[in-house]
Amino acid sequence: MSHKITVFRGDGIGPELVDNVLKILKAADAQLEYEIFNVGEDEWKRNGALIPEEAYASFERTKVLLKSPITTPVGKGFRSLNVTLRGQYDLYANIRPVKSNAAVKTPFKNVDIVIFRENTEGLYVGVEEQVNPDTVHAIKIVTRQASERIIRDAFEYAKKNGRKKVTCIHKANILKMSDGMFLSIFKEIAKEYPEIEGDDKIIDNTCMQLVMNPNQFDVMVMQNLYGDILSDLCSGLIGGLGLVPSSNIGSDYAMFEAVHGSAPDIAGKHLANPTAFLWSACMMLEYLGENETAGRIRKAVDEVLAEGKHLTRDLHGTATTEEYVDAVIARL
Ligand code: NAI
Repeated sequence: MSHKITVFRGDGIGPELVDNVLKILKAADAQLEYEIFNVGEDEWKRNGALIPEEAYASFERTKVLLKSPITTPVGKGFRSLNVTLRGQYDLYANIRPVKSNAAVKTPFKNVDIVIFRENTEGLYVGVEEQVNPDTVHAIKIVTRQASERIIRDAFEYAKKNGRKKVTCIHKANILKMSDGMFLSIFKEIAKEYPEIEGDDKIIDNTCMQLVMNPNQFDVMVMQNLYGDILSDLCSGLIGGLGLVPSSNIGSDYAMFEAVHGSAPDIAGKHLANPTAFLWSACMMLEYLGENETAGRIRKAVDEVLAEGKHLTRDLHGTATTEEYVDAVIARL
């Protein structure tokens, strides 16, 4: 049976990633039918809508979205479409696996961390208030319901996937009420999973520990902003943003995207590494039960990385995006 999915072609390197990854999915004979839409800043300039109504309608029908990165203006302009989509469709669990690949040389070996980032609240609700010309308040929202479900998902994931430890990352020493509540909910839920070690660390210490000894971490669960920052930090441990995929899962909808952004500095230059976006597509295939197809694609990528002849520039190679994609297709 083939699955209908929605695809958003975003900004910067987004369109080239979509074109190349769909080529690989086709070569792998993935049982998918696509409804493809241009979205984002460029679409807004062309047609006056960041996300056209038909694109929303398609996602509401298919309930599965493969989304390439979208540019968000800094310090002004529209609210992040990524944050909006996550809120609008209650895609509360942002799951980001960060795993070393033996073929990619970095100072760290065998990193294998899965980040669970709460995706719908915290500071990302975007509630800011100008109290007077020189003072702005930004409100951080933390609820028991949203905290419970992301923490429980992290433990359930650990249980299903044979992971040993879940670490709660927080700043409860300073934010005694908001992060304090998140931490106390974590401690309550941890008791329901005696077979899994539950511990916690303050976010600043975590950053130092991650670059000194990342192997001590297994599954990590945290609020929105901490998850955003630590995801990029962790991606640096394994060779960069070109290698970290993600899923955004809610009770009704699911969205799959790379952790990285639209990389305007390399857009259109054939330098983008499509692996993070391709692995996001693999996470989508696994979500849809197409594990065999995902497995074949993952194997082909591993072989190309191990061979080392067609690596993109971020992995210290000289291949263009297309040369790398052709090498993956040849392996398939
Ligand atoms: P970025 O993640 O786009 O780029 C950071 C650095 O990593 C750049 O040097 C870029 O060239 C490199 N890089 C990223 N992806 C790469 C890939 N696949 N292959 C090779 N190199 C890659 O972060 P930046 O520059 O801070 O943000 C650019 C725009 O993307 C902003 O408007 C931001 O808001 C947006 N953004 C969108 C996201 C999304 O759509 N989910 C997530 C993060 C940022």
